[in-house]
This record gives sequence, structure tokens and C-alpha cells, in this order.
Amino acid sequence: MTDLDDLRQHLLVAVEASAGLDALEAVRVDALGKQGRVTQLLKTLGGMTPEERQAQGPAIHALREAVTGAIASRKAHLEQAALEAQLASERVDMTLPAEVPLAGTVHPVSQVMDELAEIFADLGFAVASGPELETDWHNFGALNIPETHPARAMHDTFYLAGSGGGDPNDRETPRVLRTHTSPVQIRTMLQQKPPIRIIAPGRTYRSDSDATHTPMFHQVEGLVIDKGITLGHLKWTLETFLKAFFERDDIVLRLRPSYFPFTEPSAEVDVGYTLEKGKRVIGGSGGGWMEVLGSGMVHPKVIAACGLDPNEWQGFAFGCGIDRLAMLKYGMDDLRAFFDGDIRWLKHYGFASLDVPTLSGGVGA
Ligand code: DAH
Repeated sequence: MTDLDDLRQHLLVAVEASAGLDALEAVRVDALGKQGRVTQLLKTLGGMTPEERQAQGPAIHALREAVTGAIASRKAHLEQAALEAQLASERVDMTLPAEVPLAGTVHPVSQVMDELAEIFADLGFAVASGPELETDWHNFGALNIPETHPARAMHDTFYLAGSGGGDPNDRETPRVLRTHTSPVQIRTMLQQKPPIRIIAPGRTYRSDSDATHTPMFHQVEGLVIDKGITLGHLKWTLETFLKAFFERDDIVLRLRPSYFPFTEPSAEVDVGYTLEKGKRVIGGSGGGWMEVLGSGMVHPKVIAACGLDPNEWQGFAFGCGIDRLAMLKYGMDDLRAFFDGDIRWLKHYGFASLDVPTLSGGVGA
């Protein structure tokens, strides 16, 4: 009996003392393996007389159970400790500065979109958006663009494969990569009741590619629908916007009569510039005029297409290239560089996430 007690004591101490799972396994093999000390003891039971077995059996079985139990609980403890150590070593402190190299910066297009949202928010405009895969109806038809209009030609517009020959009044099936942000006007008027004041910045697509055109580019649309809206509201809004955007009070606008199917009357808006050391600087008009956007009073047919009564509701709209705005404000001269993904260009022109916009990049054209 004392031998058994000694063995039990010895094994339990060994179990508790094993510092890792490997050491514990060695103790287990030593006690309960094929040649293990407890296993050997169990084997002796077979050679005993029934009386001896009755006397010794329970003690030996109890020893085996005690050791088995001790090993199991030590194992659970060691596994838990290993897991905790791993978790502690892999813990990520989200409050620490990131260790990845901060190579990128905010793209000028994103920066300008943020500036637009901020400037127009001050004027009470919300930001709206629409899909880049558009239906023929939203992109053209509802905007009063006739089916024969050149803008709809294959050489201008990206059509989705197999999208030809559908019903031009289908409002569900996307057929084109939107060629402008104007369809967001339609979606907004269908979705919400006037008064409406929104801008809609986003990607647009045309089958064009040279130094001043890229197949994907960015526009911002503006739309106001209310009662008694006039060209005067349009001009004031654009003037206020451009003054805030270019951070100058001497912005001069020129509205030139123009034609867009979705506005009547329509106006092309030029902004005046002056020449400083041979560079065009937005402000004044001594140097000449630069076209910056298209605009007009929303055509009654467009208002009616959206289920509103044009005798009750009027409004103005405008559309403007965001890439061009960025180039004018920050003095970049090649549009294609916007989409090259060249980190050196971004380092030169990009913005840190909390940068305050500035004219120090220079304004050129
Ligand atoms: N959608 C026109 C375009 O791409 C721009 C435009 C002109 C938008 C006049 C307007 C507008 O909302 O009133 O090129």
C-alpha cells in the first residue's frame, strides 16, 4: 500500500510539475503507456488470487483514475495557458499608429468631391448618388435626349454587351455605362418630393481617350427643384460655389447661351482668369474666359417625365467635370495622370487625410 501511495504521490507531483504538453505526455507514457508503471501494476492483477485481487484491485484502479484525471486537468490547464499566451502575443492595439508604410495620400478627385460636398452642404444641398450602370431611359430618354441624338452613338457611349435593341422606355434593365451624372436628376425626382436641392458627384464614362479625355472621368451634377426658381438663383448659386471653391472673391462668371436637351434655356458657364507671369489664374477676367460647366433651367419635359407638374415646379441644373475643377484649382496639366496610379504623382499632388485645401499648388490651365 505504501508503495502505491508513494507511486501516486510521485506521479501526481510529476503531472503538476510538467511545464508543457510534451513533458506532460512523457509523464503519461511513463505512467499509463504500454510499459507504464500503472499499466504494469494493472497487469499484475491477472496473476493474483481472487482475495488478493479484491484487496489490491480497487486501490490500483483508483490510482489509474487519479493519474488519468490529473493528466486531463493539467492538459486542459496547459492548453488554456498556451492559448492565452498566443492571444496576448497577437493582440492588436487599434489605438497605435499603423506600422504599414503610409505610401498613399488622398487623391485630388476625392479631395475635390469632399470640398464640393462641404461647400454645397452650406447652401443646403444634400449629396445624392445613382448607379454607374444605367438604363437607356434614365441616361437619355427621361432627359429629353432623342433616340437619334449623336450622344447615343456607339462611338461615344459604352453599351453593355448584348444590350442592343431593347425597349427605350425600359426603366429596369441597365444598358449603358452612364455618360454623365444627369440621370441622378431623374432618380432623385422620382424618389423624393420637391423641394429638392442635391449635388451628385460620381464616375462617368465615354468612349474617348486623349490628353484631355479619359474613358472614365468624374462629374458633379447639381439640381434644384422648387417653386419660383429662376436663372437668377442659378447664377447666384454657381457664383457662390465657385468663389468658395477657388477661395477668391473676385470670381467673375459669364453665362453663354447654349443647348442641352434637358434644359431650356441652357447656358455654358465660363469663369474669368487673369494672367500672372504667363500663368492663368482664376479670378478677374483680364486674361480671358475658361469654360467650366453646363447649366440651365430644367426642361419642362424632364420635370414631367418624373411625374411632376412643370407648371407647379421649376428648377435649375448644372453639370461640371470634377477632374477639370481639380486641374484648375491645383495646377495639374495632364488629365491622364489622374488615372495612372503613379504614387510619385500622388505624392506631389495628393492630400494628407486632414489637409486643408489650398491654392498653393497654383492655378493653371
Ligand atoms: N450632362 C451634361 C454633360 O455631360 C452636362 C450638363 C449640362 C448637366 C447642363 C446639366 C446641365 O445638368 O444643366 O455633359
